[in-house]
Amino acid sequence: MNNKNLVFNFHDEYSEELKTLPWETPLEHWQDKGVEIIDLRKAHSRHLVRFIKTKSYSFAIKQTTPLAAYFEYETYGKLLIKGIHTLIPAGYVIFKDHLFSKKKDDKINQNEFAFVITVVESKSIPHSILFSWDFTDENRRVIFKAVAELLATLHNKNIFWGDASLSNILIKFIKIVDEWGRTKTELKAFLADAETVQFFDNLNDQFKEDELNYFFSSLDWFNDKFIEDRVKRKIINAKSDFQYLKEKYNNKIDLFNKIDDFEKETGLNVKEHFYQVEDKNSLESILKQIEEHKWYLNENCEDEISLVEAAKDWVEIIYHPIINEFEKFDSPNLFPYTNSVSLYVQIMAHKYYLSIEKGKDVGIKTAILSYSEKYAEKDESVVTAIKNLINRIIKIFPYKNILE
Ligand SMILES: Nc1ncnc2c1ncn2[C@@H]1O[C@H](COP(=O)(O)OP(=O)(O)O)[C@@H](O)[C@H]1O
Ligand SMILES: [Mg+2]
Repeated sequence: MNNKNLVFNFHDEYSEELKTLPWETPLEHWQDKGVEIIDLRKAHSRHLVRFIKTKSYSFAIKQTTPLAAYFEYETYGKLLIKGIHTLIPAGYVIFKDHLFSKKKDDKINQNEFAFVITVVESKSIPHSILFSWDFTDENRRVIFKAVAELLATLHNKNIFWGDASLSNILIKFIKIVDEWGRTKTELKAFLADAETVQFFDNLNDQFKEDELNYFFSSLDWFNDKFIEDRVKRKIINAKSDFQYLKEKYNNKIDLFNKIDDFEKETGLNVKEHFYQVEDKNSLESILKQIEEHKWYLNENCEDEISLVEAAKDWVEIIYHPIINEFEKFDSPNLFPYTNSVSLYVQIMAHKYYLSIEKGKDVGIKTAILSYSEKYAEKDESVVTAIKNLINRIIKIFPYKNILE
């Protein structure tokens, strides 16, 4: 590596292998320099982007301007810290002729370019390619749901992407490990072009709307293009796909707002305690349970107990013991595709809907029974086991009267 013309910053883990690459050479000539170029599915791009293989890793290299390379590298790091699904930055390199020269003449017509390096997101496919495939409505919508989640997560964290197009989204199945070490796969959308990202203290609604509309133009554009190119796939109504995305986006935004409110009110971290909440009404029910607990504590205490204190006590006295009972009950086998924590969260959402239907708070006992009737894979012995479980759970509560 000829350091005379280069400024670089490599992530430690990748440094050894990145150091040996021909950074003085524009990307279009890298194959002449003996670099192993790999051919992967890639969306249309303005810059030259190439995938390469080193001894232990595969990287995507984008040739761009010095400022953009530095900015994009930094931005990926910030996005990851904020929990956004995006590319892993490996480094950036800036090349300039006479980089450290003081001579005025050397600065004229100076040849300069730069690279931003990310780790190849393997097994991912650009949304713009997937959208050309002849999927069922349902499968196409699973993808839009993942995109809605990405956009809602960005906006919830006051991040404006500025280039939310199908070309810049990678779709991928990721493995999710729950708190008990069990894995499941979920489809997720990844932000794959961070050049225009902006972080705000408070992202205003106009930006959010503009971002969604921008995504719609991209969706509409690709849709028209695939029709024009006679791509073999059934006719798709871009507007109705977009309506679906918007609905999912709004649901997610509502859920995130509810989570934020819940965390502020109770001081409990939702992810830590309840792992994954899909339905904001679960939190409504849980909050109600905590309020009941607060009421009980205040009955038995001279000083006023705050909701935060009550929530902390509720986790210890009520919530953990309930989860413990669910665990002993072997819930994953009786209620497939769930674990004790999410089972609890789902039962609480069920309690919410049932209470609305009945016009009164149905209590946890009725909620568990009704939920079991609906969802458990049951035979006689399971019904008995559920009844026993309910009895044990009821014993956990020091205040029985409100549970009936
Ligand atoms: N690390 C990566 N893993 C997989 N695909 C990538 C990676 N980096 C870039 N790509 C693909 O290359 C495309 C072009 O990169 P992008 O940053 O969008 O360039 P441009 O700024 O010119 O649009 C992306 O949209 C994506 O499909
Ligand atoms: Mg792009």
